[in-house]
Amino acid sequence: EPVCSCLVMAADAEGADLVTVEGLAGPDGSLHPVQQALLDAGAVQCGFCTPGIVVSAAHLLAANSHPSPDEVREALAGNLCRCTGYGAILRALAGPESEHP
Ligand code: FES
Repeated sequence: EPVCSCLVMAADAEGADLVTVEGLAGPDGSLHPVQQALLDAGAVQCGFCTPGIVVSAAHLLAANSHPSPDEVREALAGNLCRCTGYGAILRALAGPESEHP
């Protein structure tokens, strides 16, 4: 379950399995499909928001491989991006038709 790491006390995570954006990469360092999709769609600019978006999207797509644009928006809620305007992120995760809800 994605959490805001800055809001979780380290002691509360004791014994939990933690996955960060670095942990999503393949054993050979290859990008996770969400990372590749974001790159392919031009959805990464400064990259400040990207780890949270990648982790949140990977969690969503593990349970729902074809999310609607609204499902993507809900899954990414709280991940603020000051660069992309979210259009490219939505296209990367929900397909080109997501531009026009
Ligand atoms: Fe810069 Fe999202 S790419 S904040």
